[in-house]
Amino acid sequence: MTPGLPDPVRAALATTFRLDRVLRVEPVARPGRMAESARVWIRETDGTGRTVFAKWPSRHARIRRMARQSGAYQREVMFYRDLAGDCGPSVPRMHHASHDPGTDAFVLLLEDLGGARPGDDAHSTVTDVRRALRTVAGLHARWAAGVDGVPWLPDWHGPRVRRYARFELDRIARAAARGRLMQGHRLLPLLAELSEGLDEFFARAARGAGTVVHGDLHMDQVLLPASPDAVLVDWQLVQRGNAGLDVARLIVMGLPPEERRLHEAELLEVYRDSGGGSGLLDEYRAGIVWTAFMNTSYALSRGPETGTSALGEVLFGRVAAAAADHGLLNGQGVMR
Ligand SMILES: Nc1ncnc2c1ncn2[C@@H]1O[C@H](COP(=O)(O)OP(=O)(O)O)[C@@H](O)[C@H]1O
Ligand SMILES: [Mg+2]
Repeated sequence: MTPGLPDPVRAALATTFRLDRVLRVEPVARPGRMAESARVWIRETDGTGRTVFAKWPSRHARIRRMARQSGAYQREVMFYRDLAGDCGPSVPRMHHASHDPGTDAFVLLLEDLGGARPGDDAHSTVTDVRRALRTVAGLHARWAAGVDGVPWLPDWHGPRVRRYARFELDRIARAAARGRLMQGHRLLPLLAELSEGLDEFFARAARGAGTVVHGDLHMDQVLLPASPDAVLVDWQLVQRGNAGLDVARLIVMGLPPEERRLHEAELLEVYRDSGGGSGLLDEYRAGIVWTAFMNTSYALSRGPETGTSALGEVLFGRVAAAAADHGLLNGQGVMR
């Protein structure tokens, strides 16, 4: 038995390929936090060798609980079953996608893009961000008219997300009052305004054109192969929503503030020219606010912060700078 590869993943390999044996299991260069993943070398019965990217539930019960609450594992499996087939090279090809609604266990076997350079929020260039924007613009355009037959796909504008946002914003406020948010404190004025004007925020954001969005698009979720298309991975938060959620998260977290200021207008232009919608600026600003919310909520779930770090700068420093640049920290109410 190869260490590190659970039985359900082996079983999925055996039903998907004419598996002779698993030759090698290797960690990915930049592992994620929500699940376990590995590159797997296999040999098929006719002697063919191939590599596969495998993903399965986190070993940590706390993370599995978070995943179950947000439906993250089920959503990614359903994405590969129902939507990925139309995405061409913008997402990895699927070999196998299974999910057990009873236990929330899942196995994903995907095309291995181990030859591609993994994106990295802390060290991305404008060129990298531009490539990812072109890819996401194409996907948003494909889904702009809506998608049918996907009852599992949550709606960002729906009451469930609003209830969740209310719950999380209250939790953030309580943690802040107890001094538990250190780096996140720069975003607290913005989140306090969001909390006060939550209904108005969603009412305004709902006027934006809805498409299908990745929901957690930042450079760590992007692979950069030699070919021009960037490939987007980690579809656990896929949902119906505003294009600005993806565009803002990608640009704001992917570039240091000075770089973003220099290139922001051009990057939004690239997005439009690549087929993404127009009238983006309001949605982009809503995306900055939502990114502030997501990052603070994430930091709180992650436990106590330890000093300043590159991650803290990406999660908070860059987002606070963008919020200030877009007039979202002027104390006059979010998005006014
Ligand atoms: N199909 C793939 N081929 C090669 N590497 C991949 C593939 N999909 C994801 N990766 C790499 O593995 C990392 C973790 O995968 P991801 O789906 O983001 O898991 P998590 O949900 O744990 O964040 C990604 O950041 C990326 O670098
Ligand atoms: Mg990831």
